[in-house]
Amino acid sequence: MRTTVFLDGAALINFDSLLDAFAASGLLSEGCGRNLDALYDVLSENAAPFDVVIANAAEFNTAMGERAGALEDIFARLQREKGGAFRLIRLPEESASCSASALASLLKGSPLPVTAQANASAYLFETLPGLNWAGFYQKRGDTLFLSAFQGRPACLRIPMGKGVCGTAAKRKKTVVVPDVHEFPGHIACDADSRSEIVIPLWRGKRFWGVLDLDSPLPGRFTDKEKALLEQAARIIEKYL
Ligand code: SME
Repeated sequence: MRTTVFLDGAALINFDSLLDAFAASGLLSEGCGRNLDALYDVLSENAAPFDVVIANAAEFNTAMGERAGALEDIFARLQREKGGAFRLIRLPEESASCSASALASLLKGSPLPVTAQANASAYLFETLPGLNWAGFYQKRGDTLFLSAFQGRPACLRIPMGKGVCGTAAKRKKTVVVPDVHEFPGHIACDADSRSEIVIPLWRGKRFWGVLDLDSPLPGRFTDKEKALLEQAARIIEKYL
C-alpha cells in the first residue's frame, strides 16, 4: 500500500519546515540530520513506497530556495534506485494527466450507468493527484444516495440542502469549498478531508445527482480544475 504525504507549499517557510513536515508524517525519525544527504539516507532506508504530493508548487520552490533542485534530484534518484517507489507530485501541474477526451474514450460503450460512474470515479481518482475521495450521489426523492466511488466508505444518505453535496444539489450549481472546516454543515465522511468540490449532474432536463471530490489539502481545487471537472460532468451525464 502506497503512503501519501500531503504538503502545502504555501505553509512551508524553508527547508527546515519541510523536514518538520516529513517528521510529522512519519517519514523521518527524530534526530535525523537536518541536511540533504541525511534526508536521502533516511528516505532510501524507508522500504515502503510513498508519494509526496505538494500543493502550491510555486511557493514550495520559493521556500526551498536553492535546495529545490537538489530535492528533485533526491526523488529522481530514489525512483531509479527503488524501482519507481518514490514520487514527488507537484500540484497543479500534474493534474494535466486528467483529460476530458481520455475520459470520453474510457466511458464509451459503458453498458450500465453504474459502469460509467465506477470508471469515471476511478479515472478521476487516479489522474488527479491529492484526492482522498471521488464519487457520485444520486437523488431519489429528497435525498442523495451514495453510488459508485473511490476512497474510504462514505455516508449512505445526504438530505437535499445538507452538507456540501446537498447544498450543490439544491442550488444546482458547482460548489467549491477551499476549507471544509469553514463550511457550516459540512458532513465529514473522512476526517482527513480539507477541501471539496461538488458538481451537479443532469440526465436530460432532469436533475440526477452530484459528482463529489475531496482532498486532504486545503484549497486543492483551482478554477482551472473546476472547468475541467464541469467538462467531465457533461461527458459522464451521457451515461447516467
Ligand atoms: N462532505 C460531503 C459528504 C460526502 S463525503 O465527502 C464523501 C458533504 O458535506 O456533503
